[in-house]
Amino acid sequence: MATDPPKVLIIGSGIAGLSAAIHFGEFSDVTVLTKSSADEGNTRYAQGGIAGVWSKNDSFEEHKKDTLAAGAGLCRESAVDICIEEGPDRIRELINWGVEFTRDPSSPNDYDLHREGGHHQRRILHAHDFTGLAIEETLIKKAKSNPRIRILENRMAVDLIMEGKLDPKPNTRELGRCLGAYSLDTTTNEITPIAADLTVIAGGGAGKVYLYTSNPDVATGDGIAMAHRAGARVANLEFMQFHPTCLYHPAAKNFLITEALRGEGAVLRNLNGHDFMRDHHEMGSLAPRYVVSQAIDLELKRSGAPHVWLDLSSMDESYFKTHFPQVQSMCEKFGIHPPRDYIPVVPAAHYLCGGILVDDWAQTSVPGLLAIGEAACTGLHGANRLASNSLLEGVVYSKRAAVRAKATLTSQELPKPPRPLPAWEFGRAVDMEEQIDIVATWREIRTLMWNYVGIVRSDRRLNRARERLALLRHEVNEDYWKFKVNRDLIELRNLLTVSELIVECAIRRKESRGLHLNVDYPTQIPEEAHDTII
Ligand code: FAD
Ligand code: SIN
Repeated sequence: MATDPPKVLIIGSGIAGLSAAIHFGEFSDVTVLTKSSADEGNTRYAQGGIAGVWSKNDSFEEHKKDTLAAGAGLCRESAVDICIEEGPDRIRELINWGVEFTRDPSSPNDYDLHREGGHHQRRILHAHDFTGLAIEETLIKKAKSNPRIRILENRMAVDLIMEGKLDPKPNTRELGRCLGAYSLDTTTNEITPIAADLTVIAGGGAGKVYLYTSNPDVATGDGIAMAHRAGARVANLEFMQFHPTCLYHPAAKNFLITEALRGEGAVLRNLNGHDFMRDHHEMGSLAPRYVVSQAIDLELKRSGAPHVWLDLSSMDESYFKTHFPQVQSMCEKFGIHPPRDYIPVVPAAHYLCGGILVDDWAQTSVPGLLAIGEAACTGLHGANRLASNSLLEGVVYSKRAAVRAKATLTSQELPKPPRPLPAWEFGRAVDMEEQIDIVATWREIRTLMWNYVGIVRSDRRLNRARERLALLRHEVNEDYWKFKVNRDLIELRNLLTVSELIVECAIRRKESRGLHLNVDYPTQIPEEAHDTII
């Protein structure tokens, strides 16, 4: 008797979601929901590259040592071993699928390897300085070549559909298995249920929680908020990584100045021209990212200056132009001409090291729900991510997710979701007449998070943030049930949830470690070397 092929639902079309789609597409029907165009997300803006042991001078041990040092005592060693040891094969897979990494001009059979903060070796493969775009375009093409994979653009996952909500059991609040998700067509505002044997969250990070960020607009932490509502465990959300060098210019929205420049000799200077990173770390401007961001924050607070400088003057002009064409054209757009001119830079929220807690096979604590990419917390990054380890984690865990799920998905015992799933209930919700509440609350949350839960924290500021967010929660929840939902309202609610989770994790950590710096507990405490799990 013929059986239906397994159905996999993937939320997100960045490096994690698309590479998972390609692997799952070998044995399942795959639907990818993506809330904007398929190529929009953090992946396409990645500049520096993907880290992997590639050169003869490098070794797994050295990459591991740098990852553990950056992670400040909180990395899960199994995750570090997995990513570092499986990474080169996944990078080769990307190359076979068509990604053209920049080659070494002096030895064209080899790839040009860059170096970034915290790395003691050159191990970063890159496509000039638009690595993310090169990867994203290749993955979209590859996924679209498989008729079993459908990518639905402008479709936003609203919430996961949980068995326990459809068929509540007496005396228990267990939500049971994930059966798929409700999907909003953002062009018509219609909501439809999508049933799946397995749902994979690949919704990316949450940089938009902060006023200043390197992330694009889609990064509102939807996947993390949805998983939390579904009862999944989330962890280590206090570790928001602030990238030290985003372009400081009133008209430049979100533009990152890649750390690879510092790997090639660029130096940070304060407005007096002093190489201040030498006062903070033996690696100077190439210290691990949190050390650099915290030092810049201190410098800005101490001097009252609006930015620091990135000095590229030691770099040959033609080298700069061939290796960093994107940085060059963006700076020139704003009248800055490196390497001759210094670039004005400031830190901005960049990468969420915590997320939905998963095991070594991307399984969450909820049956039928996996999580991969920036939305997941695998344990690789610990308290601070080593530069260019994120694209790596995305490809490694998307493959693992498919490998482990294959046996279950292709077995006859797979519990099938009840079909059809119930339609979305609009109840008595009415159309929203004006957007002003959403816009104002959105800005309030992001400003509050920047000011009270930023690079340097204190108990007083964290508690104040918690109280204010709780007030906002009442208002946002009221609107959520009163009005017909649209993308803005859903994102606002998710942004608020993730902000509250970040604050909660930050309050629970009674020490300073890696990216979490609390002036009331200024040191690292060995007994606190554990995950913060909610
Ligand atoms: P993303 O690429 O962010 O994709 C998330 C996807 O989910 C998007 O398609 C989004 O639209 C979709 N989505 C979100 N919510 C929903 C929803 N509710 N419904 C449907 N779809 C949804 N890392 C490195 O390793 N090396 C680098 O050089 C590097 N440079 C970076 C530069 C910049 C400017 C930025 C912002 C990040 C950089 N990073 C880098 C980090 C890295 O790019 C990201 O962590 C990684 O790309 C995340 O991949 P992802 O697939 O998990 O998420
Ligand atoms: C960068 O190019 O500086 C970003 C690298 C990263 O976030 O890993």
